[in-house]
Amino acid sequence: MSKNQAEVISVYPNRVKISVDDLEDLKVAGETLRVGSYLRVFDNDSAVLIVIIENFSIEVTNEGERKYIIEAIPLGLIKDDKFIRGGDSIAIPPKKVEPASEEEIKKIFENSLEDEVKFSFSSLSGNPSINIPVDGNKFFNKHIAIVGSTGSGKSHTLSTILQSAISEKNGDFTLNNSHIILFDIHSEYKSAFPDANFIDISNLTMPYWLLNSEELEVLFLDTEANDHNQRNIFREAVVNNRKLKVGDDQVVKEKLHFDSPTFFDIDEVLQYVKNRNNERKKDNIIKWKDSVGEVFEDNEENISRLFVENLEGIGTSNGGVNGKLINFINRLENKINDKRFDFLLGKASKEVSFEDTLKNILGYVGDKNAHGNSNVTVIDLSGVPFEVLSITVSLISRIIFEYGYFYKKSRYQLDPQETLNNDAPVLLVYEEAHKYVPNSDLSKYRSSKKSIERIAKEGRKYGVTLLLASQRPSEISETIFSQCNNFIAMRLTNPNDQNYVKRLLPDTMGNLIEKMPSLQAGEALLVGDSVVLPTIVQIDKCHTPPSSNDIPYWQLWKSEWKDIDIEKIKNEWYK
Ligand SMILES: Nc1ncnc2c1ncn2[C@@H]1O[C@H](COP(=O)(O)OP(=O)(O)OP(=O)(O)O)[C@@H](O)[C@H]1O
Ligand SMILES: [Mg+2]
Repeated sequence: MSKNQAEVISVYPNRVKISVDDLEDLKVAGETLRVGSYLRVFDNDSAVLIVIIENFSIEVTNEGERKYIIEAIPLGLIKDDKFIRGGDSIAIPPKKVEPASEEEIKKIFENSLEDEVKFSFSSLSGNPSINIPVDGNKFFNKHIAIVGSTGSGKSHTLSTILQSAISEKNGDFTLNNSHIILFDIHSEYKSAFPDANFIDISNLTMPYWLLNSEELEVLFLDTEANDHNQRNIFREAVVNNRKLKVGDDQVVKEKLHFDSPTFFDIDEVLQYVKNRNNERKKDNIIKWKDSVGEVFEDNEENISRLFVENLEGIGTSNGGVNGKLINFINRLENKINDKRFDFLLGKASKEVSFEDTLKNILGYVGDKNAHGNSNVTVIDLSGVPFEVLSITVSLISRIIFEYGYFYKKSRYQLDPQETLNNDAPVLLVYEEAHKYVPNSDLSKYRSSKKSIERIAKEGRKYGVTLLLASQRPSEISETIFSQCNNFIAMRLTNPNDQNYVKRLLPDTMGNLIEKMPSLQAGEALLVGDSVVLPTIVQIDKCHTPPSSNDIPYWQLWKSEWKDIDIEKIKNEWYK
């Protein structure tokens, strides 16, 4: 009996059923077909419908013959050499089915984008010769999420993407114009970006005086106690101290407020609070006695003395806050004296300027490297005390957002015809994003969550994009996740997390999700407005890997006992 070729036996809007007598007939160049392979379906016109195999089944006819039934999802048409998404315009009945040729698959992916926007970091899973470029403008213009269980390859993927981003150039120069800031919580990325501007607790300087009101309160006040005296005195001290430090310009002084990013001296604030704790009143007037016995009234003119002198309250009755600030004073003193907080409250933080802080984060590194600049700034957070992790991340994120805001403003002022929001746009990268922007309202996450959510909502207008990597997409703030437009979903085993990703897929491709638990390390589902089609890809290997490789346990365990230098570990621990 002569064999039939593969034929289409039914066509639905989002599904095509194909019957095949012998799978050998459907092979092209010896390639085996599998779920996920591409087929071409022709009609009488010149159009070719490209479909992707969703499942196989075998039917046995009454005569005992086997028949293969393939169900496939239409992806789009190739017409006049161009791929067009959507598959509802094939003439019925379709004539013939064949495996799509490599050329055709390349047409889908490679010819769908103009060369100048192509950004490539992966190939088709199962066929490394087919590159899967994304539209680089669309990819970086909106927020990106990389999700996957532990060991699925997120850190490597992140490294591959960023390494490609900093190395591509459209001219002959050393550094391109990419600006990447990476929050590295596990000290993994120094090895991946050896030329980066590397900042860790030993050289991190974050001025406390750049914190906004909320961050300042989280750091210095006992926010749970909700003590009004504490809050009012602290605000009063900070605002007045800022005024004293800013110089003589009355206009500038008038504009200063608790949130202004200008210097104030935290030790002077402490002195002020100590004095206020001693204040006394007589006939509603507060008076002070200084160390040489001079008495003076508490007024605007004298207020500067409260910051620098140890004063005695004079009067009969206790003033408003007398004695009520003891806990606050202890708290402030503990914070200021805690060596772990030196990067935030120490001498360097008092001396560093706003410009240098911003420049350092943006990669203007001066004589730290040969170029004087760096595309990537790696901020190693592993040594930052847990209590201030959230405000540290919040502060840096906010500074970058505000940089975008004011940069835009200044450029538009310079040229009212300006249409480009930012000509040096920035990517902020958060590893383990669920640690900074969780689906939780706990106060310890509040600052970072607020700053990052703001960027998620408004960053695009100012050239600030987020890249979030996480093991637990279902634990990331919804506000942020819903603002991501491009997703790299790696192996995911938890059903809750899978469902999260499933919602991103077009209905017709929902079942790609079933592949998620079986993806190999480095394999990912690439979805979003920068890719032609949701596609399972193999991410390219990165040039220099992050220090997150799998540990060869078994080989290590089988080798001879290794003596561990406990002394050395202790020294590191006690640093
Ligand atoms: N594109 C790739 N090709 C081949 N192997 C890869 C690829 N990406 C990652 N791997 C391998 O997978 C392992 C885990 O990778 P990686 O550290 O990136 O995972 P992860 O998702 O970041 O894990 P975690 O959530 O624990 O941080 C590494 O040993 C790495 O060599
Ligand atoms: Mg990782």
